[in-house]
Amino acid sequence: SPFKNAAVLSDSYSSEASELADIEWDNLGFGLLPTDYMYMMKCSQGGNFSKGELQRFGNIELNPSAGVLNYGQGLFEGLKAYRKEDGNILLFRPEENALRMRQGAERMCMPAPTVDQFVEAVKETVLANKRWVPPPGKGSLYIRPLLMGSGAVLGLAPAPEYTFLIYVSPVGNYFKEGVAPINLIVEHELHRATPGGTGGVKTIGNYAAVLKAQSAAKAKGYSDVLYLDCVHKKYLEEVSSCNIFVVKGDVISTPAIKGTILPGITRKSIIDVARSQGFQVEERFVPVDELLDADEVFCTGTAVVVSPVGSITYKGKRVSYGVDGFGAVAQQLYSVLTRLQMGLIDDKMDWTVE
Ligand code: COI
Repeated sequence: SPFKNAAVLSDSYSSEASELADIEWDNLGFGLLPTDYMYMMKCSQGGNFSKGELQRFGNIELNPSAGVLNYGQGLFEGLKAYRKEDGNILLFRPEENALRMRQGAERMCMPAPTVDQFVEAVKETVLANKRWVPPPGKGSLYIRPLLMGSGAVLGLAPAPEYTFLIYVSPVGNYFKEGVAPINLIVEHELHRATPGGTGGVKTIGNYAAVLKAQSAAKAKGYSDVLYLDCVHKKYLEEVSSCNIFVVKGDVISTPAIKGTILPGITRKSIIDVARSQGFQVEERFVPVDELLDADEVFCTGTAVVVSPVGSITYKGKRVSYGVDGFGAVAQQLYSVLTRLQMGLIDDKMDWTVE
């Protein structure tokens, strides 16, 4: 049953959270494992979020007429917590997720938690579920904040009430390929986003919209779909669940953020890491033809981290990259980023939060 406040709750969870959960830690995939607690905070339209609380993880009640169910007024975020060798837990740039949720909320006519409220809520939720943060090297705790129009609304309008919720799940690799390269197919007919649309914010509808092409691609044996811009149908945008990078010599190119591409936090971090490693990084229009003579291609995202692309099929032609496994550039960037996230190297950028 829901707890009245976090102070009461912290007594009750402190003992159970001190042990590691009794599960098989070696083969985590990317699926939901129910954990102990979730965080809930509500506010009315025109109001501000004030005080949230932890509750036992479980189903939530929604009016059938809730804005999120009827009109898709919802946003989500994704971030991860890693356990260090010394037992402490690290978050990676949580204030970036908070800011992105605030930008998305503005686009979707929703109130949003402040950056401080968001980060505090994430910390509370992770601590309450501490026993679910995988041991070092076994994966991470995926944190999923949601913001939704939970109030009843029948005529099309912003919902009268909003719910901010955070749940978590321990995860391993996102793709079933594990750390092996993924195989993508370029989609010609369906598009993920349009100029002026919502492709640049993390609204839930963006993800429902890619399921059809993704399912068709998976049925043909591909891992996922690479989208092109809907105006010229020739510039790279992103993959269903991650951003894309193309490597040619010492130059790494990635589609520029222009409203139709999700501004990934891993994307942004990898750009900085790559520059600090001496690469030239270009954010620009990247024509699909550049895939034909690229040295390497890789994807970035919170869930996928840095995933090497083994092949891309475009208009029936399959282009392969590397021989087996990570390309050298993706490997180098993956290694620096994940060692930073796990607290194994000096965090000069001040990206991690204990
Ligand atoms: C993430 O990488 O955290 C995402 O939100 C993508 C999602 C489709 C798993």
